[in-house]
Amino acid sequence: MEVVILPDADEVADLAARTIAAELRRSERPVIGLATGSSPLGIYAALRRIVQSGELSMAGVRGFALDEYVGLPEGHPESYAEVIRREVVEPLGMDPALVRVPDGAADDLEAACADYETAIAQAGGVTVQILGIGGNGHIGFNEPTSSLASRTRIKTLATATREANARFFTEADGASVPTHCLTQGLGTILDAGSLVLVAQGEGKAEAIRQSVEGPVSSLWPASALQLHPRATVIVDEAAASRLELVDYYRETFAAKPDWQLA
Ligand code: F6R
Repeated sequence: MEVVILPDADEVADLAARTIAAELRRSERPVIGLATGSSPLGIYAALRRIVQSGELSMAGVRGFALDEYVGLPEGHPESYAEVIRREVVEPLGMDPALVRVPDGAADDLEAACADYETAIAQAGGVTVQILGIGGNGHIGFNEPTSSLASRTRIKTLATATREANARFFTEADGASVPTHCLTQGLGTILDAGSLVLVAQGEGKAEAIRQSVEGPVSSLWPASALQLHPRATVIVDEAAASRLELVDYYRETFAAKPDWQLA
């Protein structure tokens, strides 16, 4: 695992975006794995600047979101389908027909999960997967005790996750944070060609410590990244504040002036 510690959230977003752009450019069938929440927003803004500079086109790039709430009415502003449309597809000029989000409004949710796995496989797999991390170490919505081999499925959201995400839901939205979601499994995520996880702020410091330097354990689902040969964790100083091997991470990064995914 590559661990990169940078001074602030802007630099985290810039390096993550440059890394992702390089991966997409190198691929003959580029597929971007999309995360929602606040952590990747800076990445999408930085990717937009790269697209505007002409160094990357997202027009033919496929996209798959990590997860979706169950039970929100179609078009709800906090449904991840809407968030992805607003924050990613439109600003980056992606083709909406090439971007999928799990169908949390399906009558048959299990069939929707199976379809999603099939669609990812038919696209040739995800080239580069963007990840945020929950304070409890979740990635996607794989809450603690999720199987390391799990595939896309229905999950119950942890109370801590529902509390953390309540900030996105206002009374005007007419819905509170749903209790359930569909999420790619840890096994699904580990199938991506490369993984780029970003974390900013002190609130993520313990999850980063446990996931990067602790044992691989379903209690800290992001520790599954240790099983992936091309996983990169890009964090700001605050999120890195509980790591022990900081000198090693800094030396490794400093030794690669033209840094990109190993
Ligand atoms: C959402 C997702 C989640 C978030 C995590 C952190 O698609 O995959 O794992 O990345 O809950 O959320 P923020 O970034 O809002 O702190």
